[in-house]
Amino acid sequence: MSNKVAKLTLDGSTESIDLPVYSGTIGPDVVDVGGLTAKGLFTYDPGFMSTASCKSDITYIDGDKGVLLHRGYPIEQLAEHSDFLETCFLLLNGELPTAEEKTGFENSIRYHTMVHEQLYQFFKGFPRDAHPMAIMVGVVGALSAFYHDSLDITNAKDRELAAHRLIAKLPTIAAMCYKHAVGQPFMYPRNDFSFAENFLHMMFNTPCEDAKVNPILAKAMDTIFLLHADHEQNASTSTVRLAGSTGANPFACIASGIAALWGPAHGGANEAVLNMLDEIQDESRIEEFIKRAKDKNDPFRLMGFGHRVYKNFDPRAKVMRKICDEVLEDLGVENDPLFRIARRLEKIALEDEYFIERKLYPNVDFYSGIILKAIGIPTSMFTVIFAIGRTPGWISHWKEMISNPYKIGRPRQLYTGHTQRDYPAK
Ligand code: SDX
Repeated sequence: MSNKVAKLTLDGSTESIDLPVYSGTIGPDVVDVGGLTAKGLFTYDPGFMSTASCKSDITYIDGDKGVLLHRGYPIEQLAEHSDFLETCFLLLNGELPTAEEKTGFENSIRYHTMVHEQLYQFFKGFPRDAHPMAIMVGVVGALSAFYHDSLDITNAKDRELAAHRLIAKLPTIAAMCYKHAVGQPFMYPRNDFSFAENFLHMMFNTPCEDAKVNPILAKAMDTIFLLHADHEQNASTSTVRLAGSTGANPFACIASGIAALWGPAHGGANEAVLNMLDEIQDESRIEEFIKRAKDKNDPFRLMGFGHRVYKNFDPRAKVMRKICDEVLEDLGVENDPLFRIARRLEKIALEDEYFIERKLYPNVDFYSGIILKAIGIPTSMFTVIFAIGRTPGWISHWKEMISNPYKIGRPRQLYTGHTQRDYPAK
């Protein structure tokens, strides 16, 4: 345990409170404040700006250096040499799979891609123009109804089965959201397609023609899923951990993560970036929007810019920009006006004192939407894509917590309301 101590002294008291200090393998030390309650004190940290909620071996971020490691492997190397399912295995199990383990994992995911036929009935109740994230929250949460009774979260095998089911079924449900919106028949997954090929197949193919998928788009889709796979204790992952700490089943926990991801300050930003670029419309209007982003009286923010942790380039944004270049060129749309506006917007913002002073850089959401649009995915589905990619991260953090001793998460508060008062006599 710790051999370092932080001493806390309060004004007017001669007594100091010794708080243990722990060191991780890399990254900042942490001060264990668990003993403060016994001293009649709470810590106060709205937004958890300086709070480590747990210890974890899964992902490390150095925001100042723009470093992102999954089980020690840099995201740039995984994007270059790995694929989404191999990265899922790495996040879940801590090591890259052997060739045999990889084949076994791919097969397990492949044979869990279908959903219960009765799940199709759920879609009849949603309006055609329902936001797909509203459907995802509902339908993924409803998976509990099909598996709740066959799930013992204290059993490692049950936990692994739930993890595989969730990774495998999210793309199927996501594609069903799109087909429901466009009024086309749902497409069943195919066992002869890879993970990303299957998703594009279920999204864009119909029963009227032979199933085919553009391999360039499938590769780009796979890398986009990989880049979203995990990101330490972000808002949606922290939501999954808090839900999991009550003993809720993993399907309900992942549904809570999807709900938290939807917000425009988090996973909803990729959709907001495309809407922003559409609103800017022309490079001549960029300065106007930069001005608005800096105006404290204007709620407008430059979507896809800034990050709670990264005070340097988000390494995922650099990879995403490279994929953007490649995919748009492969598709012959390298002069895509939105991509041109995005590149120009990035250049202007990175040279502007306001953004430099606040260390605001493009994040993972800034370029992803442009690629997704080029692949043919509608803007309303962008955050759904993020949810598919983030599921292995969510479920790995859930598994890491549940597999070790844990306590229910229950923060306290600084109470600023009324002191006790009596109900007025009638
Ligand atoms: C994701 O946590 C994760 O890891 C998330 C994520 C993941 O993989 O899970 O990386 C995914 O959510 C990426 C972020 C996507 N969101 C956006 O792109 C939305 C736009 N960004 C902002 O809303 C904002 O930057 C946040 C929410 C991302 C971060 O907000 P913080 O850390 O609370 O910072 P802040 O709001 O306190 O901003 C600090 C200053 C403020 O100015 P001052 O009050 O100091 O004068 O920077 C300004 C802010 O006004 N600022 C921006 C800005 N982001 C911050 N000004 C204009 N445009 C922006 N985008």
